[in-house]
Amino acid sequence: MGFLKPYKLRLLLASIALLFTAAATLSMGKGVQVLIDQGFGGGSVDDLRYAITLILTLGGAMAIGTFLRFYLVSWLGERVSGDIRLAVFDNIVRLNPGYFETNRSGEIMSRLTTDTTLLQTIIGSSLSMALRSSLTLSGALVMMFITNLKLSLIITVGIPLVLLPILVFGRRVRKLSNQSQSSIASVGTYAGEIIQNIKVVQSYTREPYESSAFSREVERAFSIARKRIFTRSLLIGAAIFMLFASMSGMLWSGGRSVLSGAMTGGELGAFVFYALMVGSGVATIAEVWGELQRAAGAAERLLDLLNTKSLIDDSGRSKLANDRKQPDVAFNDVTFSYPTRPEFAALKNFSLHIERGKSLALVGPSGAGKSTVFELLLRFYDPQQGEIVLDDINIREMPLKQLREQMALVPQQPALFTADVKYNIAYGKATASEQEVFAAAKAAHAHEFITQLPSGYASHLGEQGVRLSGGQRQRIALARAILNDPRILLLDEATSALDTQSEQLVQEALQELMHKRTTVIIAHRLSTILHADKIAVMDHGQIVASGTHEQLLQSCELYARLAKLQFRDSGPGD
Ligand SMILES: Nc1ncnc2c1ncn2[C@@H]1O[C@H](COP(=O)(O)OP(=O)(O)O)[C@@H](O)[C@H]1O
Ligand SMILES: [Mg+2]
Repeated sequence: MGFLKPYKLRLLLASIALLFTAAATLSMGKGVQVLIDQGFGGGSVDDLRYAITLILTLGGAMAIGTFLRFYLVSWLGERVSGDIRLAVFDNIVRLNPGYFETNRSGEIMSRLTTDTTLLQTIIGSSLSMALRSSLTLSGALVMMFITNLKLSLIITVGIPLVLLPILVFGRRVRKLSNQSQSSIASVGTYAGEIIQNIKVVQSYTREPYESSAFSREVERAFSIARKRIFTRSLLIGAAIFMLFASMSGMLWSGGRSVLSGAMTGGELGAFVFYALMVGSGVATIAEVWGELQRAAGAAERLLDLLNTKSLIDDSGRSKLANDRKQPDVAFNDVTFSYPTRPEFAALKNFSLHIERGKSLALVGPSGAGKSTVFELLLRFYDPQQGEIVLDDINIREMPLKQLREQMALVPQQPALFTADVKYNIAYGKATASEQEVFAAAKAAHAHEFITQLPSGYASHLGEQGVRLSGGQRQRIALARAILNDPRILLLDEATSALDTQSEQLVQEALQELMHKRTTVIIAHRLSTILHADKIAVMDHGQIVASGTHEQLLQSCELYARLAKLQFRDSGPGD
């Protein structure tokens, strides 16, 4: 109802059109009576002309009314489902990332598309069919009784007998069509996953397996569909038989009244017309009733999505004092478990101080919790214990927008959008000029390879940037962060996919960047680590040691081991 509210006027016009069409349709029964009794029975061409003109006028009125009703109601259906889609998406993009770990993105997508589409057909057609049918149904019922009382009574008893099997079969059809819908959805999901991982599938030569697994899905969908169409065909056949059987009964009884003179042929004609309207009205309502129930289900699921609240509370209003300066960052005794693994602490009593304007290298074995530090800093999750402060303000007390505007993250797996290079670099700063984009790309040593792409900065990168190498993707992500000119720069193994030579070039650019801001850099390369002001060693969600390279080599066994085995390439002088 809330979504319909802005379109009150259209709703009113649609209702008027609905009433008008119903009236015109009902008058048609009288038109039939006039046509038979006066037009055919009157014996003169003038009478016939009059009757035909009447029918034509009513037909014209029905056409205009139907046009308006169909247009307005379908318009409402499309508009409202579009609005719902927008509102749901608006809510989804604000949800905390943890939500998407427990709710499959495929299901959310299907709610956004299938459920809204369902709602659109319901609002745009089924609902109006139900309304129109109940209007004409009640009208026709009244007209039927007015036309002939005795016959009407017979019909009123007969209709339920006809409808009973239709209702029973109809319910079964509906159930099967629901199953059918969801099995089609799973066919789509399956194919989607295979296409996304096509290189893995082909490299392990699993095509025959995937084909046969997919064919099982398809066959399952088909066998459900076959049951559905069989039941439906049966339903249609039964309905047609019932319809003509009851018509024959009606015509037999009514025909004898016509023969005995108790009723005119026109009256019988009008009566049959109204009886058909009543029958088809009831059948339509019975059919769309199920659809309305499905729509209620869809609406409920959409409202669920619409009302899901982000677990990250954004009501804090404490602003950083000086917006220009880089803030000091500190983790104070932070303990955090990911919501999907509540028993496992990714960070345990974790304390860390990152001085303003300085750079800190985080090192440690894989799974130590390094990336988790960034996730918490960006408030994708809130820790269960302890606090994270920027210049002594708890980041929970800060508006999310201000917090995140301080930082730029270059993630381990750079995320690119299906668009061109320029769009991807300017993603964090849509207002950037071409010159700024070029400068950022040059600083990230991406300019050279970008200009060699078929259309330079306008080259399309394909879905998720599939047309680039890992190292190229990283440099685009780096350029994006550079262009954003953040006060806190977060680099998560941002140069791991680069070859040694371009890594060295990027490294130089990073030196420059790091001078002007607070930087936290998760690194595997000794050359990167050596350039940091401070090194912190992490293991099992804790800081186990910190200091300079030389100090740590002496004092920290883990660091010495990592330095020897894991840090690729070599220090200066090698
Ligand atoms: N989204 C997640 N849900 C549950 N557990 C996670 C998630 N992300 C990371 N973890 C777990 O948290 C631990 C730390 O991960 P991470 O911070 O990514 O380590 P790394 O030091 O390699 O960057 C790992 O044991 C990992 O399995
Ligand atoms: Mg990591």
